[in-house]
Amino acid sequence: MSLLQTRALTRHFSGLKAVETVDFDLPEGEVRALIGPNGAGKTTFVSLLCGRIPPTSGQVIFDGRDISALPAHRRINLGMAYTFQITSVFANLPVAENVALAARRREATSAGVARAVADALERVGLGDRGDQNAGDLSYGHQRLLEIAMGLAQAPRLLILDEPTQGLADAEIAAFKALVRELASSTTILLIEHNMSVVMETADRVSVLNFGQILAEGTPAEIRANPAVQAAYLGTA
Ligand SMILES: Nc1ncnc2c1ncn2[C@@H]1O[C@H](COP(=O)(O)OP(=O)(O)OP(=O)(O)O)[C@@H](O)[C@H]1O
Ligand SMILES: [Mg+2]
Repeated sequence: MSLLQTRALTRHFSGLKAVETVDFDLPEGEVRALIGPNGAGKTTFVSLLCGRIPPTSGQVIFDGRDISALPAHRRINLGMAYTFQITSVFANLPVAENVALAARRREATSAGVARAVADALERVGLGDRGDQNAGDLSYGHQRLLEIAMGLAQAPRLLILDEPTQGLADAEIAAFKALVRELASSTTILLIEHNMSVVMETADRVSVLNFGQILAEGTPAEIRANPAVQAAYLGTA
């Protein structure tokens, strides 16, 4: 069964059709990449999923339940976690405290929080940096910290908006391994411009263009799709 569905999901910005009647199905356990040109509507689409902005019309369905009218924090409590395209850690707080803020959404006891923090930092490879101020981390490590903040909520669905933007090659290689490891325990929706990340981590790919789904398929099918090449891959 689909963990996440949208039906005719639409968001207009004063006439601009940023997301237009999108029907989307994401089965539980899948790693799905969402690709498309700049301005295609990818961030707007996931903002609708998360409840950061309301739709103009249409539905978001999570685990069989229509959540279209639920505020963002209630969606987080249902098991949706996301990282932003723009890095948004608390620079003046220690790394571990950033993760603890997220973990406290789920964990009632301080021992539970500490365990969730240690586990999340370990999984992203920041286990030895908990005491550092988040603002002192490299940019790549700040992005990993954001993922740890998502993981600390034990999400059923993890949404990552361009997590590898600005990362060095070695960090991108480590990120691919991280996604593969996370895929065994959570469904992942990954907005990504780096095609090697898409090809090596995604089970399936959805292509957004001018707010609409242009194509869906396996990474190999998408790479071979002439319409996708014309709209996106030719210029990527
Ligand atoms: N708050 C807003 N107000 C007005 N227009 C917006 C707003 N947010 C997004 N848009 C417009 O909606 C369209 C889709 O933008 P969006 O950020 O969703 O694209 P994207 O696919 O995430 O692009 P990128 O790859 O550059 O991140 C763009 O034309 C953008 O300018
Ligand atoms: Mg975007």
